[in-house]
Amino acid sequence: MSDLATLEAEIVSAVEASADLAGLDAVRVTALGKSGSISALLKGLGAMGPDERREQGPLINGLRDRVQAALAERKTALEAAALDAQLAAERLDLTLPAPPRRRGSVHPTMQVMDEMTAIFAEMGFAVADGPDIEDDFHNFTALNFPPKHPARETHDTFFFSPNEAGERMLLRTHTSPVQIRTMVSQTPPIRIIAPGRTYRKDSDQTHTPMFHQVEGLVIDRNIHMGHLKWTLETFVGRFFETSDVVTRFRPHHFPFTEPSAELDVQCDRTGGELKVGQGSSWLEVLGCGMVHPNVIKNCGLDPDEWQGFAFGMGVDRLAMLKYGVPDLRDMFASDVRWLAHYGFSPFAAPSAAGGLS
Ligand code: DAH
Repeated sequence: MSDLATLEAEIVSAVEASADLAGLDAVRVTALGKSGSISALLKGLGAMGPDERREQGPLINGLRDRVQAALAERKTALEAAALDAQLAAERLDLTLPAPPRRRGSVHPTMQVMDEMTAIFAEMGFAVADGPDIEDDFHNFTALNFPPKHPARETHDTFFFSPNEAGERMLLRTHTSPVQIRTMVSQTPPIRIIAPGRTYRKDSDQTHTPMFHQVEGLVIDRNIHMGHLKWTLETFVGRFFETSDVVTRFRPHHFPFTEPSAELDVQCDRTGGELKVGQGSSWLEVLGCGMVHPNVIKNCGLDPDEWQGFAFGMGVDRLAMLKYGVPDLRDMFASDVRWLAHYGFSPFAAPSAAGGLS
């Protein structure tokens, strides 16, 4: 075998034997690097006479080309093998069950909304919905807010920039606009609750700029305060899961109801714990009243034919009270430790038959 053939056989077998990209590069350097064996042969061509060079030139260049091709082929193979190894190492078995400590849970606000929905569904209420972005008509005007009512001012309400017509959309400040949307689109009798997000510029231990309310509306013939009282007392008893709740209706003012009241529940707050159904304190639970005739008229109904009652309550606040959450802001901090502590099992959805909490 000629010297060139021996050299080629050596280099090619070293190329094939290299187990990784670093080893392969070392082989490349010994052959084709600055002081590599093939580089030395190429340099030697210059010192040869013309005849010898004509003979050796193609042999040495051919050797170089074949070695380069062998290096490139091995490189591709090693790269593919490295990628396969990486993919195999990073493989995830998606059929494995999630580790138990990462289990998701139902947020107390959603739990309480589900509880409220279960209680009112049992009393024949349907669930209604409306947009978070409202117009002045549905959020204020149709609800009988006088033009200069302070709640319309910017310190309470998040307004959007005015459109070409000069009208400003807003983030609804309560769920009451769903009353309007329901009365406009449905024919009475109406029995709905409307759970949803609401927004006000407010932030402290008991206020967050986004919070949740459940609105209620009943419209029918011959509806009176007795219906309102029974419905809300029944709700409060079911919600706090006690049969001996004592309630108090305190006169109040809302533009959209007449008369209006706030409903308090008797409770005991001694020892930093809240107990409903005993004690000498009162806990404000919701606002309510008989739907104002102007509101019924604004929705195209005749107030002499149709009457009703409405109520609205803060869901997050009731969740805090029922489940002992000290700071409202934590409810929306998305802290997984908080959620693991205060959250509920997704497999125990509240129902009238299965129990609430
Ligand atoms: N919209 C009121 C608020 O956000 C709550 C409310 C009070 C709703 C009385 C009602 C009602 O439907 O009758 O403060």
